[in-house]
Amino acid sequence: MNSYVQRVGLTAWRKKTSVLVATALLILLMFGVQYSRIDENTYFMEEERDAKVIADALMKSIKNVKFVDKDQTGVDAMVREENFVSKRRGASLAEQFSDIENEQQLGIPFVNLDLKNPYIPERRIVHLDFKGAPSQIAYLKKLFPLFKVMGATGLLIEYEDMFPYQGSLKNISATNAFTVQEVKRILMMAEDAKLEVIPLIQTFGHVEFALKLAEFASLREVPNSPQALCPSRSNSLNFIQEMVNQVMVLHPNSKYLHIGCDEVFQMGECDVCRLEVHENLFLRHIKNVVQMVRSKYPQIKIIVWDDMLRHIPQGAMQDIHLGSLVEPMVWVYAEDIYRFVQPSVWEKYAAVFRTAWTASAFKGAFGETLYIPNARRHLENNLRWLDVMATQASSFKDGMRGLVLTGWQRYDHFAVLCELLPSALPSLALNLIAVSNGYFNSSLRNKFLTALSCPEQNITPFINLDSDPFMWEKLSRCIFPGNTVFRLMNRLHNMETESREFLDLVHRQKGWMTSYNVRHNYSLPLRVDEVIADMPRLYHAAISLAKIAADSMAGIFDNYTISEWIEQKIYPYILEFERIQNDSAVLKGVEQWPVRPLPILKKLQRLGIAL
Ligand SMILES: *[C@@H]1O[C@H](CO)[C@@H](O)[C@H](O)[C@H]1NC(C)=O
Ligand SMILES: *[C@@H]1O[C@H](CO)[C@@H](O)[C@H](O)[C@H]1NC(C)=O
Ligand SMILES: *[C@@H]1O[C@H](CO)[C@@H](O)[C@H](O)[C@H]1NC(C)=O
Ligand SMILES: *[C@@H]1O[C@H](CO)[C@@H](O)[C@H](O)[C@H]1NC(C)=O
Ligand SMILES: *[C@@H]1O[C@H](CO)[C@@H](O)[C@H](O)[C@H]1NC(C)=O
Repeated sequence: MNSYVQRVGLTAWRKKTSVLVATALLILLMFGVQYSRIDENTYFMEEERDAKVIADALMKSIKNVKFVDKDQTGVDAMVREENFVSKRRGASLAEQFSDIENEQQLGIPFVNLDLKNPYIPERRIVHLDFKGAPSQIAYLKKLFPLFKVMGATGLLIEYEDMFPYQGSLKNISATNAFTVQEVKRILMMAEDAKLEVIPLIQTFGHVEFALKLAEFASLREVPNSPQALCPSRSNSLNFIQEMVNQVMVLHPNSKYLHIGCDEVFQMGECDVCRLEVHENLFLRHIKNVVQMVRSKYPQIKIIVWDDMLRHIPQGAMQDIHLGSLVEPMVWVYAEDIYRFVQPSVWEKYAAVFRTAWTASAFKGAFGETLYIPNARRHLENNLRWLDVMATQASSFKDGMRGLVLTGWQRYDHFAVLCELLPSALPSLALNLIAVSNGYFNSSLRNKFLTALSCPEQNITPFINLDSDPFMWEKLSRCIFPGNTVFRLMNRLHNMETESREFLDLVHRQKGWMTSYNVRHNYSLPLRVDEVIADMPRLYHAAISLAKIAADSMAGIFDNYTISEWIEQKIYPYILEFERIQNDSAVLKGVEQWPVRPLPILKKLQRLGIAL
């Protein structure tokens, strides 16, 4: 889902700071450093680093002030100020300024919304991506009412290999998939929380979870790639029909079914498909799937991801009456929505479809291996969607259906885990509350802090997305379900930062334990000891973090997921430390050293160098 996003690059750190923020940071620097955490396990380096981060940010903001005229972002800040001042013409000057200061400290990205008439999507749907890592039912039970409180109206559930398929499809299900009873409980819990459920089944691309198996390999478009289904085989449709039937039997009350169809990277490659134009292949497959679904479930409305439609001509879509078959779900997770879906594409959609859905993201969009979402970037994406929806809704005859806040767990079936749901709950709260109100500002403070079970405290500002985009600092005392996992990510971040610095020192900066020293068994024992002096502490920190991780994820994920996460995020450091330990022991075991020159490395001949 996310390949477009990668191209956007690293525009995260907007230089939208201003003199006022600099002042705020100075105050923070003076008082904030003393701010003590309840977290006893934080590393002692943390405060020192925090002070450095704040100091760096301060330097940056001071630098920006000088360039404020050249910099577009300076204009943003001024517009923002003007909005406030004009809105509060009646207030005293002092009051005006304290408000401006307050709002700017929150670091909320500026999006030019019509605040007199905020656009609120009729449906606000939370995407639950279960692929390859099921949440524990007891945890979901705590989340659903919370989603409701935050403003959600429904769930888009992507089971992938976590659905309890049966019969001929049995092997698609992971062995730790939900049971039928568990799916029924999930749906009951959703009903209790008054959340409508939309199931999602991939029916064209991203069918890796099935096509990876030998028994379904014959349905592949490309024999050695499990990504896409071949639309020209009748068995493909039978296969889809079986999946749809099994899912629909467990979702008798769903009014919508999402049939995926994003990122079909392989199309028109098999012998049969090659004879046809891509767009016809795509459209005809959608039509076949929809007709097949409707023959059994005539009332159900069908949704597809829109990315494949962006480049298909309007005429081709109208020829098969695509508008009567499906509703498109337009997804963009980067900040600049029109960059990916241009106004001309919107015009085309409005001509073809009576309505449309949109999809933003609250996690899983800015990097495959991230473990905590950048709430500021996601908030900007969501606020911009409000702006785009407010503009585009009127051109669709039936307006817009709603907005789905996606929360990807993996980028595809084979990818490692990205941000886990509990670590993204604060981001979800921020974004869900924003889209359910049509804006986000300090008047939503209590709603936000209450939803996340934050203690009564008078921390001002209550968030600062510029200096604290992961919200670790501001929300470290909140006790929402899964808060220990949220805080775990802060510890991981600290562990990673320290460990990477250390590894870089050992492997690259210091001159006695580089790969050359190790290959040639040639170093000075005293120096080796010096280089690795910090390692025992880091090693034990990593091991204790693994234990903390296991404890804090118990009750939220199953043991497979917990172990996968630890293996991906923490174990590589432990292995690396052990390798360094072994290497250092060997280097220190040497007591006599050869005269120089050391032997020429034979392997260099691979490089075509004659030495
Ligand atoms: C927040 O925005 C809403 C909607 O525009 C507005 O009514 C309210 O006064 C704003 N609150 C603050 C503190 O700016
Ligand atoms: C599932 O996989 C097992 C082991 O590979 C195989 O024996 C069995 O026939 C498969 N089941 C179905 C329904 O194809
Ligand atoms: C995980 O493993 C532990 C230890 O074997 C066990 O007590 C616990 O019940 C397991 N958790 C789950 C969710 O299976
Ligand atoms: C380090 O050496 C020990 C003992 O020889 C060995 O068991 C272990 O696999 C080695 N670890 C690594 C990471 O090389
Ligand atoms: C390095 O030297 C030690 C001590 O002489 C020896 O035991 C070890 O095998 C050597 N290792 C390599 C890779 O040459």
